[in-house]
Amino acid sequence: MGKNEDMEETMKKQLTVTWYGHAAFLLESPSGTKVLIDPWLENPKAPANAVRNVGANLILVTHGHNDHIGNTVEIAARTGATVVAIHEVALYLGRKGVAKVQSMNKGGSVELLNIKITMVDARHSGDIDVDEVPIAGGEPAGYVIEFENGFRAYHAGDTGPFLDMRLLNQLYKPHLAIVPIGGLFTMGPREAAMACTMIRPKFIIGMHYGTFPPLTGTPEQLKKHLPPSMRKMVRKLKPGISLAF
Ligand code: NI
Ligand code: MN
Repeated sequence: MGKNEDMEETMKKQLTVTWYGHAAFLLESPSGTKVLIDPWLENPKAPANAVRNVGANLILVTHGHNDHIGNTVEIAARTGATVVAIHEVALYLGRKGVAKVQSMNKGGSVELLNIKITMVDARHSGDIDVDEVPIAGGEPAGYVIEFENGFRAYHAGDTGPFLDMRLLNQLYKPHLAIVPIGGLFTMGPREAAMACTMIRPKFIIGMHYGTFPPLTGTPEQLKKHLPPSMRKMVRKLKPGISLAF
């Protein structure tokens, strides 16, 4: 990495990203606003007591599966966070007692606490399977989150690759792409690498892998499938350890 790139990276060290295992991430903005995404914090890789300790001003839920809604209801109750979700999931969370719910849908944006949140497409299933019998949960989604310093992060949710991912680059130009790589229920490393060539971010973080043995994809495999010029973009996180961007 050249000297100029080093300097640029130092100057951008203002957004803090913490992985809580699986699809759960805490993104802390330069001014300290905490955006918690898909907080299933009882996953096998999550740091101990994460459900009780994590802070949140905003909680973003990508879809109705229990490994994504996770502990949203209890964390929202403790923190007073506003929960953002697609309309049908938002209605469900309201029924479950979440006090502040922001309903939205794909292609739309909302600004909350100086953070611009855009809901984008994802290819997956979207019913709510938290209760015994699955109920309709609209569709799965991803988010592009623009922080107050202009840094844009894309959290893909659960998805396979799709050609419209080109629009993410054309419309939003995310600096950071957080994409599933585990396989089986989401895309694996090969598909995720193809997705990243369409999104064209500066940094890539793999998620939704290693939680259970069947989610076999790894960041190393993702790197292998990326074009050589993109391999250095991959950042490997350990659950509970923060990285600054
Ligand atoms: Ni899912
Ligand atoms: Mn999932």
